[in-house]
Amino acid sequence: MEVIICPDAGEIGKLAGAKIAALLRRKPTAVLGLATGSSPLDIYADLARRVEAGELDVSRNAAFALDEYVGLPPTHEQSYAATIRRTVTEPLHMDPSLVHTPDGMADDIEAACRAYDEAIRAAGGVDVQILGIGSNGHIGFNEPTSSLASRTRIKTLAASTRRDNARFFEGEEPPTHCLTQGLGTIMEARELLLVAQGENKADAIARAVEGPITSMTPASILQFHPRATVIIDDAAASKLQLADYYRETYAGKPAWQRFADEAR
Ligand code: GLP
Repeated sequence: MEVIICPDAGEIGKLAGAKIAALLRRKPTAVLGLATGSSPLDIYADLARRVEAGELDVSRNAAFALDEYVGLPPTHEQSYAATIRRTVTEPLHMDPSLVHTPDGMADDIEAACRAYDEAIRAAGGVDVQILGIGSNGHIGFNEPTSSLASRTRIKTLAASTRRDNARFFEGEEPPTHCLTQGLGTIMEARELLLVAQGENKADAIARAVEGPITSMTPASILQFHPRATVIIDDAAASKLQLADYYRETYAGKPAWQRFADEAR
């Protein structure tokens, strides 16, 4: 796992954006894996800036979101379909018909989940999956004790996740269930890019990066991935035992700066 500690949170989106832009130069047809939550917003802002500058064109790229709430129609502004539309599809001028979220309104949820995995496969698989991390170590909505081999399926949200996400549902009960790509589905992406900022992610990051691989910390499955990069700020890195090692300076440049130069 490549762990990159950025001196300030503002650099995270720029570095991750540069890595994704470099991938799109190498493979213009790359399939993007999208995440919701606040963590990746700076990545989307960086990519949107590149689109506006004429550096990047993702108008024909397919994209798949990680998850969706059950029972929220795409017209609900807190549905992940609407969130992805607002934060990714529109600012990056993507083709909405190529940007997918699981169907949380399906009558046959199991069939919708199977169809989602099948659609990812039919598109050639995800080239780069963007990930945030929950304070309980979840990725997507794979809550603790999720099967490490799981596929897209319905899950009950953990009480802590409902509390974390209650801020988006003023005067409304946050949903209790979701559809999420499984850990097995996520692990099939060719590259994983996890970003996290702030002290409330420090525990989850330490457990995911340096702890044992366990379904109690679903993000720890990333340790099995051959191309997983974790880009975090000092606060999210504050509980890592090997933080000094990840930060090491050589050739006069701190590690994060070398990665940033390399991605450009
Ligand atoms: C949400 C999403 C995850 C996200 C996480 C963290 O519930 N399902 O994909 O990574 O929780 O959210 P945030 O980035 O806002 O802290």
